[in-house]
Amino acid sequence: MDLIKVVGGNQLNGVIPISGAKNAALPLMIASLLTDEGLTLKNVPNLADVNMLTRILRNHGCDLAVDGKRAGRGPMQLGDTFHLTAREIVDTTAPYDMVSRMRASFWVLGPLLARMGTARVSLPGGCAIGTRPVDLHLNGLKELGADIEIDAGYVVANAPKGGLVGGRVVFPKVSVGATINVLLAAVLAKGETVMENAAREPEVGDLADCLVKMGAKIDGIGTSTLHIQGRDRLDAAIHSVLPDRIETGTFAMIAAATGGDVTLEGTRYDFLANAFDALRQTGVTVEDKGDSIRITRNGGAIEPVSLETQPFPGFPTDLQAQIMALVTRASGTSVIRETIFENRFMHVQELARLGADIHLHSDSATVKGVATLTGAPVMATDLRASVSLVIAGLMAEGETTISRVYHLDRGFERLEEKLTRCGADITRVSPG
Ligand code: EPZ
Repeated sequence: MDLIKVVGGNQLNGVIPISGAKNAALPLMIASLLTDEGLTLKNVPNLADVNMLTRILRNHGCDLAVDGKRAGRGPMQLGDTFHLTAREIVDTTAPYDMVSRMRASFWVLGPLLARMGTARVSLPGGCAIGTRPVDLHLNGLKELGADIEIDAGYVVANAPKGGLVGGRVVFPKVSVGATINVLLAAVLAKGETVMENAAREPEVGDLADCLVKMGAKIDGIGTSTLHIQGRDRLDAAIHSVLPDRIETGTFAMIAAATGGDVTLEGTRYDFLANAFDALRQTGVTVEDKGDSIRITRNGGAIEPVSLETQPFPGFPTDLQAQIMALVTRASGTSVIRETIFENRFMHVQELARLGADIHLHSDSATVKGVATLTGAPVMATDLRASVSLVIAGLMAEGETTISRVYHLDRGFERLEEKLTRCGADITRVSPG
């Protein structure tokens, strides 16, 4: 298995192009199941999770053609164009061996049920960052009339005769996935669905914008109350995946960690205002330049922060590990509270191997800044945790080797290349 080798100490200077958002691309691809006409998605990132989802969608009968032939692309021209066509759904079962590998594939439940009147989708199973139940998804779909049973590890869902009917779904807790699953069903249900306390993450808005292009009627996009008028069918559409705010925030933290002057190109400041406020508190200069963001830290110390993760527009849980890595070298003590997932601190023990001083008490981590980190072998445990080890490695003295890097490949497109171009010493080592 590949390793990533990082030698710390280099300042980063240059321009980093931001890819399309993984967490927008996945539900957008799943939306192709809603129509027998083609859905064209531009700016799709080349990631392991995207590739896995194409296999799952093919299993349901979705055809995929990719433009721009990845192998022939220039050195930094990111983003493929996907043409997805689910003319006929040939299988309404999403099997365990696929869903267990990527939780987002559970979101096929809503569209399969809405279009075919029946679906059998495996429960996703365990996850490194928390228990991650799917009760909110299932309760939401029940409000649209679905009959749902659990049978041998599978969710077996059936719509009433005549199809799903609009309903009122009040989420007791904000869930990105449940909002997406119910939205993907409600657009083909009869009558109006109202969703309250819906997730406001930009990726949900991007999906809703695409569904509108496909002919759906949705009011309240970007707010926590969505009004959806169901349609009998949806049409072909062309949509471009929005920029990845988590990749943007991650590179911003890398620039903050190494010092220097980095411009993040083709991305949006407003998706991350809260995270940039936190970064400014650490002593970094952040400039919103329209379609790019400039991050500079010239020599000053890293200041500590106190923050907690929250649903959008709060500080994202998907950047918690990265900011923790940054403040391991702060000039004081930071407190970081994780409120979204109950076990999202797997990076703490690995950061400690580099010399970080972090204490955990239930959902909070107290991070006492240290003067130096020292490179060591470490292990990636999940996608965002693994990139926090890259950040720590870039700040550490000497060499850090990160194993289990397939976690990184799930969500960061051409990470080493993007960083190397700005002066980082980071290489992928393939054994043998
Ligand atoms: C999405 O996961 C993202 N995944 C996650 O990104 C992200 O961390 C998360 O939203 C929160 O922003 C994708 O977009 C593919 P949730 P999701 O449902 O939808 C609880 C990454 O690294 N909950 O918003 O699964 C749940 O346990 C990934 O890219 C229920 O209790 O997250 C959690 O505590 C990791 N019952 C909270 O809600 C349910 O039925 C929020 O989870 C559903 C969720």
